[in-house]
Amino acid sequence: MTVVPANAQSISRAAELLQAGGLVAFPTETVYGLGALALDSQAVARIFEIKGRPSFDPLIVHVLDRATLERVAHAFPPAAERLAARFWPGPLTLVLPKAPGVPEIVTAGLATVAVRMPSHPVARALLAAVAAPLAAPSANRFGGLSPTRAEHVERDFGATLFILDEGRSPHGIESTVVALEPRPALLRPGAIPAEEIEAVIGPLAREEAGPVRAPGQLRRHYSPCTPLRVIEPATVAAAERADAGALSLREEFAGYAVSRVLSRRGDLREAAAGFFEALHALDALGLERIDAQPLPERGLGLAMMDRLTRAMSSRAESRDERNN
Ligand code: TXA
Ligand code: MG
Repeated sequence: MTVVPANAQSISRAAELLQAGGLVAFPTETVYGLGALALDSQAVARIFEIKGRPSFDPLIVHVLDRATLERVAHAFPPAAERLAARFWPGPLTLVLPKAPGVPEIVTAGLATVAVRMPSHPVARALLAAVAAPLAAPSANRFGGLSPTRAEHVERDFGATLFILDEGRSPHGIESTVVALEPRPALLRPGAIPAEEIEAVIGPLAREEAGPVRAPGQLRRHYSPCTPLRVIEPATVAAAERADAGALSLREEFAGYAVSRVLSRRGDLREAAAGFFEALHALDALGLERIDAQPLPERGLGLAMMDRLTRAMSSRAESRDERNN
């Protein structure tokens, strides 16, 4: 059995596997992660191998506490201090100068390391049991949909992986990635709205254009296998609805093979929590197409629109990338 309910016994088994250089999938408050000991370059190499992830794409290092943080990050600027005080433990990733002991493979050769201190009790129990930092990308094959349930991880990796199961990830969308230097910048919108971060440290540069600093910035990413477009379903002709699915914020659309609503109340937090789950479910139906309604680009709507516009890039291209 690969999917195991998270409890004291399975967590200590998972810690043993990690300490032996193995990989374990585990729940976090954002999405499920695929973890390995961050300071063990061979273990980290296996993450790239089984994800099919290009090695220029650096990983996030998860730490339990400040003492572990100091093993991976070599400096902690004042703005990072203020953000950590406000949002850690929680779904914020900070890009910091890396400590010498962090293997190059974790940071893809960059002088910086992305770090976060998760709040999920199972992630924390696992970090406490291994007593070491864990590198963990989302536990999906490269370029695909992020997993918000153990079953999503199992679908991608099957029997090869030990998966700690603790139901649905509460936020349902990845952490927000913020760089502090040379200036504060939003590298990936995520579970903490950019507005909340700006309320603490002032304006964030949006690093959408320019050189790729976070490969979550790659245009093709977070893609389902079914072609997806961002379009107002109300504008789609009845004849084009029959073999397609609709994904919308609050109202259902008639005539679609299936119409998924993210939050009847129009609540963006509730919508984000079920967002990848809805995409996984639609993707499993073998539809011709998914029509995703544009979401308001504020709060968590920004992170969801980011994922949708990346998912919209051509399926053929993303398939090529995944097969590489
Ligand atoms: O919520 C999350 O962050 C989840 C859970 C498992 O913690 N993890 C996650 O990891 O989404 P991953 O590997 O799928 O995304 C990591 C993001 C990528 O966009 C990567 O490029 C960026 O963080 N990143 C990592 N190290 C970086 C660095 N040194 N500089 C800039 N961006 C970095
Ligand atoms: Mg990912």
